[in-house]
Amino acid sequence: MAEIKRVQVAIIGAGPSGLLLGQLLHRAGIDNVIVEQRSGEYVLGRIRAGVLEQTTVDLLEEAGVAQRLHEEGLIHDGTQMSFGGRRYEINFRKLTGGKTVTVYGQTEVTRDLMEARQSEGAATIYEAADVSIHHFDSRPVVRFRKDGAKHEIACDFIAGCDGYHGVTRASVPAAAIKTFERVYPFGWLGLLSETPPVSEHLIYCNHPRGFALCSMRSMTRSRYYVQCSLDENAESWTDQMFWDELRRRVDPAAAEALVTGPSIEKSVAQLRSFVAEPMRFGKLFLAGDAAHIVPPTGAKGLNLAASDVRFLARALVEFYRDRSEAGIDHYSARALARIWKAERFSWWMTSLLHRIPDAGEFADRIQRAELDYLFSSVAAQTSLAENYVGLPFQD
Ligand code: APR
Ligand code: PHB
Repeated sequence: MAEIKRVQVAIIGAGPSGLLLGQLLHRAGIDNVIVEQRSGEYVLGRIRAGVLEQTTVDLLEEAGVAQRLHEEGLIHDGTQMSFGGRRYEINFRKLTGGKTVTVYGQTEVTRDLMEARQSEGAATIYEAADVSIHHFDSRPVVRFRKDGAKHEIACDFIAGCDGYHGVTRASVPAAAIKTFERVYPFGWLGLLSETPPVSEHLIYCNHPRGFALCSMRSMTRSRYYVQCSLDENAESWTDQMFWDELRRRVDPAAAEALVTGPSIEKSVAQLRSFVAEPMRFGKLFLAGDAAHIVPPTGAKGLNLAASDVRFLARALVEFYRDRSEAGIDHYSARALARIWKAERFSWWMTSLLHRIPDAGEFADRIQRAELDYLFSSVAAQTSLAENYVGLPFQD
């Protein structure tokens, strides 16, 4: 017989969405449990992006987990783009009236959230097998197995924070959900190394051989990417091959300054745009990658997850504290309005910077014209900067 527990909110998935939601609810006195299929170490082993909008930093502060972020995060007041052998600067601070972003790895955000949750004694069940959700239109229940034993959790609400491949979105009847998707015909091969970054800025490179990105985790740890074909696998690239290819794609000054070293991690990521609508089904809410994916070119993945969680945490606090359903009723529409803007920006950045296979000469010239326009127009740069640092919340 399954052991039955009761909580106010059952959260599926201990990625950044689930952990941040759990922390905000816990702080507001809303009882919650996180059910995660993997181990904590596995979750922390995933290397993801690391650019935080100020609104994401503010939310992590509100969650009480921003101390290390403030000590170790790197404030970036602009970014650089390389094209045609030249480097161009997009100065966020000047273009947006003082806004900046913070470079701090998603892995570190996750670690800080996990530690806070553990030290505050909030429940997380790792290595939960066969997680399933039931009756989310009436009296929701979550079931799973742990160490062979069956468990059941009854709750008021379920938060589906279980990423793109999770069980929560997949449990919604097909007729109740509409999805929108674009899979890009190329991937990113990423390399992490214990080397100083090539520049104090991130450098986004458009090159005839394909896109490249010079990023960082700290002043001694770098993250680089090169556009690759979809069938590429990371093991067939030696570190030397990666560094040679990167050097060919960056501008001459960056190629000269590049410090190489052994890789700590190398992996290939697919690029995808995806949105599921709506994000609420009775007492089930989707948040983060469970509901949407952006290609990483706009650095929006984690920020969008945080933006969903911000809306959802406020909605649930309103429900329990003020007995108002207004927030939960508006959750989906509010979250999606922001998501589609980030989808547009991420798609645009991706189209602007990559070599698109078989796009044809016309599309190549349009891309070149778009870059020329961007580098000569303050209005175009302002639009990029406003989107990159994060659009204001309209609430
Ligand atoms: N049951 C329980 N947990 C599950 C299940 C399941 N059936 N399926 C997936 N999970 C877990 C995964 O193991 C993972 O730890 O849900 C978590 C989802 O985490 P993420 O994929 O990191 O998604 P999210 O928390 O929404 O974070 C979004 O991650 O991919 C990046 O760019 C994205 O930065 C963004 C962030
Ligand atoms: C990263 O550092 O991993 C990173 C930075 C910016 C992006 C994507 C990835 O746009």
